[in-house]
This record gives sequence, structure tokens and C-alpha cells, in this order.
Amino acid sequence: MAAPVPLAVMASGGGTNLEALLDHFNRSDDAPVRVALVLSDRPGAVALGRAQRAGVPGAVVETNGREPADVADSMLSELERHGIRMIALAGYLKLVPEAVVGHYRGRMVNIHPSLLPSFGGPGFYGRRVHRAVLGSGCTVTGVTVHLVDEEYDRGRILAQYPVPVRADDSVETLAARVLRVEHRLYPAVIERLARALERPGQPAETGAAFELVDSAEPSADGIRRATIRTGPGDGAG
Ligand code: GRF
Repeated sequence: MAAPVPLAVMASGGGTNLEALLDHFNRSDDAPVRVALVLSDRPGAVALGRAQRAGVPGAVVETNGREPADVADSMLSELERHGIRMIALAGYLKLVPEAVVGHYRGRMVNIHPSLLPSFGGPGFYGRRVHRAVLGSGCTVTGVTVHLVDEEYDRGRILAQYPVPVRADDSVETLAARVLRVEHRLYPAVIERLARALERPGQPAETGAAFELVDSAEPSADGIRRATIRTGPGDGAG
């Protein structure tokens, strides 16, 4: 069996998505991916405590007042030291330096709590996203997993998953419903991407591994099921 792909998770805050990834990948011996590093820009990030409890190395690369190229050097040396082959941003609030994006192009993903390109980009993070969704009158929001490029929330979309907005939703109830979907979608997409990238002959830069194939009827929890498959016609899903 092939060794698991070492994944770094970058997080600035609470890290519930990190926890979902640890549950999915690090609690089983035959997972195709292993969270091997948690990187934060904030020494006090709750995510670092989660890493420690799971026995995963944590590292802090501060960004305030530093040149992006200097930040990139620090990040790349941490990532290389831990043999990292893929990166998942999970509530990482800073723009990733270009040199790091370039090094991991096609291998770095982000999760965003809306259906991009709506409600994304600079300033759309955390509760602000859900507040804007509620203010817009949209009846559907969702989750997007996308490749990371040089701009916030703009890289190629790998998977999306719709979530209903209810008439009586508050920011909190909507955020909680969306977050439950995030915790299921992110590990699934990362697992598929890792398998696709590690397949012999797969060019490392290819992010074109996903197609969202929607969907069954809404289920009892109001969340539509979707299938992600790795390339046209391969029957997976
Ligand atoms: C999530 O909503 C994610 O989509 C966004 O930041 C939030 C992080 O939450 N990018 P958590 O720290 O994983 O709980």
C-alpha cells in the first residue's frame, strides 16, 4: 500500500475543519492522506491546540509586518521539512504568498462557506459571508472547495455543495448548517484530489480532477447529496 500523502492544514482560528480532516485521515491506518503539519499565522490559534492533541506537529509563521517573500521562505522551509505534498487552507485568513502558491499549484485547496463566485473575495470571511447571504435574500447558499491561486477565493472550483437558507435563519443557524456540510465535503474532496494527483502519469499541476455531478432529492436534513467524480466517465462517485 502506498504511503499516505502528507497534507499541511493552514488555519488562523478555531479549526473545526482541521478536526474533521484529522478524524477522517489521521485516525485510520490505511487513509490515503495524513495531516502531517498544522501551520498558523497566529501563535494563539485554537487549531494549534487541536494539532497538539492529535500528535501532529504545529508551526507558526507570522506575517504581520513582513515581506511576502520572507514569509514564503519561512513557510516553504516548514513545508519542506515535513515533506508536505498537499495543502488545505481551513480558515486561513491571510493571502498565501505567491511563491508558496506557485510551488503547490494544483495541490493547494481552500474551503469557502458560500457558492463561489458569490459572496467571496476580500472581506468575505467568517460571519460576514453568512450575513451577506441573509441580506441578499438568497434561498440557497453552500460550500465551495477550490484550488488556491494568487487571489482570495478565485481559483478553479473543484466541488460545490448547496445548502438551503431558511426564512427564520440567523447568522448562527445558517453558519452551523453550512459548517456541517464543510466537515463532510472537505475530506472527501481532498481524498479524491490526492488519489488523482498521486496516480501514475498524472501531471502534478493538473487540478482538473473533479466534476460535480449533482444530485439526488433533498434529504431529511435539507442537504442535497452530490457526487464528485474524478474525470469524465470513470464511473467513480
Ligand atoms: C470555515 O467556514 C471555512 O469555510 C472558512 O473559514 C471557516 C473556518 O472554520 N474558510 P473552522 O476554523 O474550520 O472552524
